[in-house]
Amino acid sequence: MKVNVDLATPRWRDELEHEYAALAARLEPLVPCLEIPLHLPWIDAINRLKRERGAVIMAHSYQSPEIFHGVADITGDSLGLARAAAECDAELIVVCGVHFMAESAKILAPEKTVLIPDLEAGCSLASSITAEDVRALRARHPGLPVVSYANTSAAVKAESDAICTSANAVQVVESMGVEQVIFLPDEFLGRHVASQTTVKLVLWHGRCEVHEKFTAQQARHAREQFDAALVAHPECAPEVLAEADFVGSTTAMGAWLKREQPARVALITECSMADNLRAEFPSTQFIKPCNLCPHMQRITLQNVHAALRDLKHAIEIPAGVLRGARRALERMLQVGRSEPG
Ligand code: 13P
Ligand code: SF4
Repeated sequence: MKVNVDLATPRWRDELEHEYAALAARLEPLVPCLEIPLHLPWIDAINRLKRERGAVIMAHSYQSPEIFHGVADITGDSLGLARAAAECDAELIVVCGVHFMAESAKILAPEKTVLIPDLEAGCSLASSITAEDVRALRARHPGLPVVSYANTSAAVKAESDAICTSANAVQVVESMGVEQVIFLPDEFLGRHVASQTTVKLVLWHGRCEVHEKFTAQQARHAREQFDAALVAHPECAPEVLAEADFVGSTTAMGAWLKREQPARVALITECSMADNLRAEFPSTQFIKPCNLCPHMQRITLQNVHAALRDLKHAIEIPAGVLRGARRALERMLQVGRSEPG
């Protein structure tokens, strides 16, 4: 399909600033103001190309504000994006997130073209375990079902009985209907889940390289110095979670802020999250312990534009792996139907 919209036909700066005045005002408190005029031509080119291609752009909560607010049609946590991919009408989906998120979209919408702007956008949890490791664990614990976190490769998902995200891990584990479950690969999320249920978990030693860096001392410092409420992602260490007023997925954190409306909050999670939420909660002051995910940061306006222009990089998954992974992901979505996101 011929595409005739790109940066070779840029629009005048005042025309862009007029059309995107509302977006520029939204971005102003979130990104350095000098960057906004540099972002607008890319945002405009992506939005035009997106319309021409009939594409949908999905962005995880950890994407930078110019992507999250500027070009995304659907935003959310990994559960929300997986659900959206399963329900999406568009033939072309661009996932602004990490590789396992794009794979989940492809698994749930196999007939669609799913693009990721940078194939190297990985995840330390996903790379902590292989399909072979899962088979070895099953051999060591015969008869135990395997629940895998969404932050795994398609090959690992295909070896699993069910997938979960941080938003529904307890419900999925309990839905297996047994006393003991193998839970992979995030040790800290596993320990958090174990504290919320009577089901016993066999854990793996995977860690999120971003969340494992937070310390209980940093959390206490945010509370004591800034009188801030503490909201943490369950990929943090147990002693950090013990300090938190609320523990939840990226979407659940936003829902908690809406309910509680704290004057000050420290989000103990990837730091773009606070930038993205700040636009929604102007009367809350965000204290940012700033750990960025280097994998999420690989996605830029420039490579989103290139992905749409050149239809790259399409996610391909061998048919057998896709079938197995889809069965496990659909089991999660079944559980999710009766649970809040
Ligand atoms: P969510 O499931 O909360 O979106 O988290 C995904 C993730 O990668 C967190 O580090
Ligand atoms: Fe993976 Fe951690 Fe990055 Fe999330 S923040 S994508 S778990 S490395």
